[in-house]
Amino acid sequence: MSDDRLIVALDLPNVIAGLELAKTLGDAVSFYKIGLGMLTGGGLALANELKQEHGKRIFLDMKFFDIGATVEAAVRGIAQFDLDFLTVHGDPHVVRAAREGAGGSDLKILAVTVLTSLDRADLDASCIKAGNMTDLVQERAAHAFDAGADGVIASPQEAALIRALPQAAGKLIVTPGVRPAGATLGDQKRVTTPAQAIANGADHIVVGRPIWQATDPRAAAQAILDELASA
Ligand code: C5P
Repeated sequence: MSDDRLIVALDLPNVIAGLELAKTLGDAVSFYKIGLGMLTGGGLALANELKQEHGKRIFLDMKFFDIGATVEAAVRGIAQFDLDFLTVHGDPHVVRAAREGAGGSDLKILAVTVLTSLDRADLDASCIKAGNMTDLVQERAAHAFDAGADGVIASPQEAALIRALPQAAGKLIVTPGVRPAGATLGDQKRVTTPAQAIANGADHIVVGRPIWQATDPRAAAQAILDELASA
């Protein structure tokens, strides 16, 4: 089994493109993230195929947010499939409902703290209380853990602060916003390298474009795995 600290984001339009990339990456990659962009392209079918037929671990990035009863029902439905990680927004009522829906299954509920694409002006526009972003992220992570989250999604620059929370003991920290040195940032702003993300306390890193947009995706993934192995 390859190093499952690397999760590759399959931000591709459909099952065919996703399977093709997974085939190219082969044994090098054992953990995939499938998100909302592939919802209408057969994302759940791809998740099941990669899990059942190819033995891959699956992170379903759905970022659920709704009334508790609806979140619970949605998560109960997903927990019937043998998947590994599922995201919901980190609001305590959502996390509690998701935990209830996951029941005794092995599905890990990961809470989104504050979307990394938002800045303070966006939070003001959404009437989110005053305070700097870092404090809000740390507070939301603490509340999500208290509500039963198995882990959180955070920027790698926030991972160390979250890891320092007493509530974070034994919990997962998963960080997107990771770029190998010299890679194009795209729309990611608060990035670190793979090795730095792990050093900051991340258990898994999520990498998309630096792998699937590469001319040689397998070599790009292998370079990240090599960096993790020597970190
Ligand atoms: O291509 P890139 O490496 O930036 O992909 C990162 C993945 O992580 C994307 O699927 C993106 O939607 C997701 N993500 C993120 N920031 C968050 C939550 C999820 O970049 N806060």
